Amino acid sequence: MKRLLASVAALGLGALAGCGDSEPRPAADYGESLFQDARLSESTFNRFSCATCHVTTPALPAGRIDAGYSLYNVAARPNWWGGYETHLLDAVNFCYVNFMRGVTKLEAEDPRSRALYEYLSRISPDAQAPALPFTVVKDIEDVPRGDAAHGEAVYRAACQDCHGATHTGAGRLTELASVLPEVTQDYDRLFPGIPHAQVVIEKVRHGQFFGVGGNMPPYSREALSDADLGALLAYLGL
Ligand code: HEC
Ligand code: HEC
Repeated sequence: MKRLLASVAALGLGALAGCGDSEPRPAADYGESLFQDARLSESTFNRFSCATCHVTTPALPAGRIDAGYSLYNVAARPNWWGGYETHLLDAVNFCYVNFMRGVTKLEAEDPRSRALYEYLSRISPDAQAPALPFTVVKDIEDVPRGDAAHGEAVYRAACQDCHGATHTGAGRLTELASVLPEVTQDYDRLFPGIPHAQVVIEKVRHGQFFGVGGNMPPYSREALSDADLGALLAYLGL
């Protein structure tokens, strides 16, 4: 039994097993502060923290639509990114490099990786949790327009934190986030012959424009339904 416990601890699963609830966990606290801090990335252009795109509560709070899943129980999942990633640190590094402009991956030996791991373990109380689906819309197709009033709620829940108010960008997280929907005025020149709505759907579904550039996250089908996207487009007048 002792040996078993020792090997569990060696795997770093001690926190998962929930032992020693009252004992202080400075590494997890440090990890929590890193989770909420955009300065985790050394890029001066980055304004995103992990918390920009991930909540840590069991369910998404009302009025919030995130590209990324809640990370509650994340350390108890068998794989991540719809099965594409089989190591938790790789799953984190995908976000760190692609969205937070991290120049080099967080290495396993880096104390920050260790601290993030301890924090993610602390918010994973269950021994096992199911892997979550991540369905990428491969071929972009137009979607039926929905109700613009609902679309406004979708905009607030999904886009406003980063892009700020429509037409002005007021309150946006970063000046790099374009003003919506005005940015589409450039699309006749940039993407001649492609309907503006299709360019926006491409951006939202893939995070990048036809495979190039940007650090906006992609929205899977699970994160944002076509119905919500159609309402959003109606609200944006696209
Ligand atoms: C700009 C948005 C964004 C930021 C910032 C971000 N992520 Fe993500 N993350 C995503 C998206 C989108 C996914 C894919 C959907 C999913 O699996 O949650 C994802 C997936 C993940 C997953 C896999 C979850 C699963 O079960 O499939 C982990 C783990 C993760 N992120 C951790 C982090 C951590 C830790 C940070 C901070 C270092 C971070 N992310 C920063 C958007 C982001
Ligand atoms: C985590 C922050 C974040 C969220 C959330 C987000 N965006 Fe973005 N978006 C950006 C950033 C940063 C850029 C500029 C860099 C780039 O192109 O990726 C951008 C660019 C865009 C562009 C392309 C503008 C251009 O250059 O032509 C469109 C369109 C867009 N976002 C639409 C949306 C919509 C619609 C939503 C909500 C469903 C949304 N974004 C949610 C950060 C975000």
